[in-house]
Amino acid sequence: MRPLVASIDLSAITHNYAVAKRCAPGRQAFAVVKANAYGHGVREVVTALHGIADGFAVACLEEAAEVRALHGEARILLLEGCFAADEYQFAAQLGLDVVLHNALQAQQLLAATLSRPLNVWLKLDSGMHRLGFSAAALREWHGHLHGAVQVAELNLLSHFACADERGSETIELQLEQFLELLDLDFAQRSLANSAAILTIPAAHMDWLRPGIMLYGATPFADLTAAELSVRPAMSLTAQLIACRDVAVGEAVGYGASWCAERQSRIGTVSCGYADGYPRHAPTGTPVIVRGQRVALVGRVSMDMLSVDLTDLPDAAEGDVVELWGAQLPVDEVAQAAGTIGYELLSKVTARVPRRYRNS
Ligand SMILES: Cc1ncc(COP(=O)(O)O)c(C=O)c1O
Repeated sequence: MRPLVASIDLSAITHNYAVAKRCAPGRQAFAVVKANAYGHGVREVVTALHGIADGFAVACLEEAAEVRALHGEARILLLEGCFAADEYQFAAQLGLDVVLHNALQAQQLLAATLSRPLNVWLKLDSGMHRLGFSAAALREWHGHLHGAVQVAELNLLSHFACADERGSETIELQLEQFLELLDLDFAQRSLANSAAILTIPAAHMDWLRPGIMLYGATPFADLTAAELSVRPAMSLTAQLIACRDVAVGEAVGYGASWCAERQSRIGTVSCGYADGYPRHAPTGTPVIVRGQRVALVGRVSMDMLSVDLTDLPDAAEGDVVELWGAQLPVDEVAQAAGTIGYELLSKVTARVPRRYRNS
């Protein structure tokens, strides 16, 4: 069997969910499990959070159906709402909470005949300009939807663009936009993603929406996961499958882009971009071998990558390699590769087996 596995510590996820809840006592929290629980496996994550999480949030009806099959009662929030008129009836059958972010969705809901009314979350575009009604349009739709037969709870939701940039003026402006609507009658309100849960108490409202923090990565460039007291859930581990000496001037990997400037020992690791490791990770990106940091060298291949073992003379074929995880925060690898932990975690491909533990 190919020595590459994503080991997932489910107890880290339940711990991290508790951290989110502790930040905002008395509030409820939708565990964001879209995109296969950010690559961690939605089945296992929802099962681990069964009886713990107040609800779950997903990106589409297909994901919602998967969560509903695992959990009969939990509130499940459809973050982008329905994508077509015929989805409302299915959403009602599944007992979902749906976002409405534009007029078309609102019209489709009001035209639908549902087996039971839905909890509706009107989404305000408070400044991110991705999804949501303007404040004026939201007021108008609130009037149409309040008391409609298709609507059970009528709720308010918005999303921050810059919650990860502490002190950003945009945060204040978005918060103000949100607060200005609270003269309307809403049953529940939700605004905070992980960054806001961790650093913007005024944004906590009634329902939190923690995503990345559940998986033990940081939304901030200047605060580590450890500083936030969240524990990494995934460790991506491979093996050294070959070791060789290369002489000064000899090159390693595709494009011969890295050349030895000293007599070097090079290890070949059983992980590549087809596993989700970023192809654009540059020479110098940290990798852990035998518990020590070494540097990636040359281009990442589809199934393999190379590391410089020169300063680790005892390293040998068969040694365990950690690409990220308990010893190396995914955020550090992401930073080296010019991306974010969210992308690396959610892009671990299906061919990488997930192994679960709960300790
Ligand atoms: C609307 C919405 N809420 C909450 C989240 C969770 O955000 P985070 O993973 O930063 O906590 C997301 C994630 O993209 C989102 O789109």
